[in-house]
Amino acid sequence: MLDTPVSAASQSIGRVIAVNGSQSTVDLSARAGIGETPTVGRFMGLTTAKSIIIGLITDVSEQPSPAAGAGQTFRKVAHLDLIGELLSRLSGIPRFQRGVTEYPNIGDSAAMLGERELRMVYGGADADHAHIGDLQQNTNIGVHIDIDNLVSRHFAILGATGVGKSSGVAIILQKILDTRPNLRVFLVDPHNEYGRCFGDKANVLNPRNLRLPFWLFNFEETIDAFFGGRPGVEEEVEILSEVIPLAKGAYLQYRNGANGANGLLTKKREPKDAGFTADTPVPYRIEDLINLLDERMGKLENRSRAALYHKLIGRIQTFRNHPRYAFMFENANIGGDTMAEILSALFRLPPDGKPMTIMQLAGFPAEVVDSVVSVLCRMAFDFGLWSDGVAPLLFVCEEAHRYAPADKKVGFGPTKRALSRIAKEGRKYGVFLGLVT
Ligand SMILES: Nc1ncnc2c1ncn2[C@@H]1O[C@H](COP(=O)(O)OP(=O)(O)OP(=O)(O)O)[C@@H](O)[C@H]1O
Ligand SMILES: [Mg+2]
Repeated sequence: MLDTPVSAASQSIGRVIAVNGSQSTVDLSARAGIGETPTVGRFMGLTTAKSIIIGLITDVSEQPSPAAGAGQTFRKVAHLDLIGELLSRLSGIPRFQRGVTEYPNIGDSAAMLGERELRMVYGGADADHAHIGDLQQNTNIGVHIDIDNLVSRHFAILGATGVGKSSGVAIILQKILDTRPNLRVFLVDPHNEYGRCFGDKANVLNPRNLRLPFWLFNFEETIDAFFGGRPGVEEEVEILSEVIPLAKGAYLQYRNGANGANGLLTKKREPKDAGFTADTPVPYRIEDLINLLDERMGKLENRSRAALYHKLIGRIQTFRNHPRYAFMFENANIGGDTMAEILSALFRLPPDGKPMTIMQLAGFPAEVVDSVVSVLCRMAFDFGLWSDGVAPLLFVCEEAHRYAPADKKVGFGPTKRALSRIAKEGRKYGVFLGLVT
């Protein structure tokens, strides 16, 4: 219910001459030349019967006037993006809301938006609203964001390169940490630029202290890692798809004590098919995988087939022994190392005073970055499922275009799928997405 309409914004300087979707054109001929100049980036208010519609000027130009009479005359027009409206309320204090419920009409009066209205748009500081800076167009006006609103749905921070996205993200995340101590924050930091931004509230992960066991990688991610970010050799991929499930089965067997005290897979006997696929999130040992391949190779009569196995074994051994990939293999199979423990460590449950994780990617081998990010995105969703939404998590992906480019032909498919799964279903499990691009 509306009582009195919102009072008109400052002095009228023009009128609406066209409305087109979320845009509007204003004829500025009425402008007297005093007061604020209507230029690109400034705000105007269009006064309608029920509200003041807020528009951001995106372009100003001169157009031939259709006015009758001798000689051609010109008029100055401004194009506006309609961003929201100030609505009257019973309390008498108008409230700003994004989006437009009712469009302006031809002839509606237009004025530059005054400080009073801008303050309504950008809010005031209170328990729910955090001050994140001052308005570029008018530094007297503080800009406030509704933290609850921001973190209870997904959000994106968009802008051309160098406009200050990362600086903005640092400020916004600091405010989130201050006001929502129960929210976990996971930040993917491709350029290692956030390490010092959050003081002792953040646990900083890098290739030296991250533990991301190779068995957490699903099949596509494993192939991407083993083959250095290139599509795998078809025959080798096929062999792996048969043998990885067997290695998983073997692990389960000796976890249940079937293979003797040392727990190593006994030679010459392939483990029974435990019904796993290469994607089942069950640990296995890389040594078992190599042994299984080795045994199969020993039984082969076909030389070229054996050479294929030989090459694959060599590939896995090189990968396994390279110090660059130590984060995937060190302590990967320590007893009791379960998925739950890894999720707890990655996503700070319990937070132990550090509710945030900064995942610094710059030191990782370039060829495994895609699969590492993919695993982390998947894990974030699984964390929500596993904790059943009781430990809300904000997953912030900087430089999101690198991991989920709009172009279907580029980018790593599994990461895109994992991010879109969070976007589509994450909310139900308390997993929220923040994309910066
Ligand atoms: N509000 C601001 N006022 C003035 N300078 C700023 C502001 N925000 C950021 N800067 C400066 O602008 C530069 C770029 O900032 P930043 O790295 O945050 O941009 P970005 O949008 O993340 O860039 P990139 O696309 O390279 O990631 C930095 O030098 C930063 O100090
Ligand atoms: Mg940046």
